[in-house]
Amino acid sequence: MSEVLKTIERRSSTRGYTAEKLTPAELDALITAGLQAPTATNRQELHFTVLPGDAPVLFDIQSAMGGRARPEKNFWYDAPTVIVISGEAGFRWTAVDAGIAVENIALAAEDLGLGNVILGCLKAAMDGNATGNFARTLDFPEGYTFQIAIAVGRKSAEKEPHTYDREKQVTVL
Ligand SMILES: Cc1cc2nc3c(=O)[nH]c(=O)nc-3n(C[C@H](O)[C@H](O)[C@H](O)COP(=O)(O)O)c2cc1C
Repeated sequence: MSEVLKTIERRSSTRGYTAEKLTPAELDALITAGLQAPTATNRQELHFTVLPGDAPVLFDIQSAMGGRARPEKNFWYDAPTVIVISGEAGFRWTAVDAGIAVENIALAAEDLGLGNVILGCLKAAMDGNATGNFARTLDFPEGYTFQIAIAVGRKSAEKEPHTYDREKQVTVL
């Protein structure tokens, strides 16, 4: 099996991290993987905001999530790095492109032996932030909105990849 297929097979969501920070080279590899993701018509309408796990804005977003937050853990599971992807709100493929970019980052993280978890749970808090405070703090370009985020760090918790029902989900005609 190719290295890419092995990485896809191994990837799973990590919900526990050590405090150890990513190295600059690791961070650079993750961001590069995001930038190398394809976008519809090569529009490149995504923006990547890199945050340390102790950034005050993460705690502010957590507070804005209210009842949607898990009471026992913060939404980024104390990961040392969170990458927030914003995108051009009016472009019809932005959400798809952001999904592809975040998976590129997830697979790059897996390949580097780093844990990661894709984070959508902050969406309502981000969308409901009428004054745009979070968008400003996170340096979203004008007209960009939250799409998806990902937490990355060294694993302190393990989880097996999810199982699936091929019969139910696949038709081969
Ligand atoms: C769009 C999207 C949003 C997600 N949001 C969250 C989230 O907010 N919090 C979380 O713990 N996991 C989140 N996940 C991770 C999924 O729960 C996880 O991928 C799924 O349970 C399958 O498990 P696996 O990733 O370990 O294979 C998200 C995944 C996707 C694709």
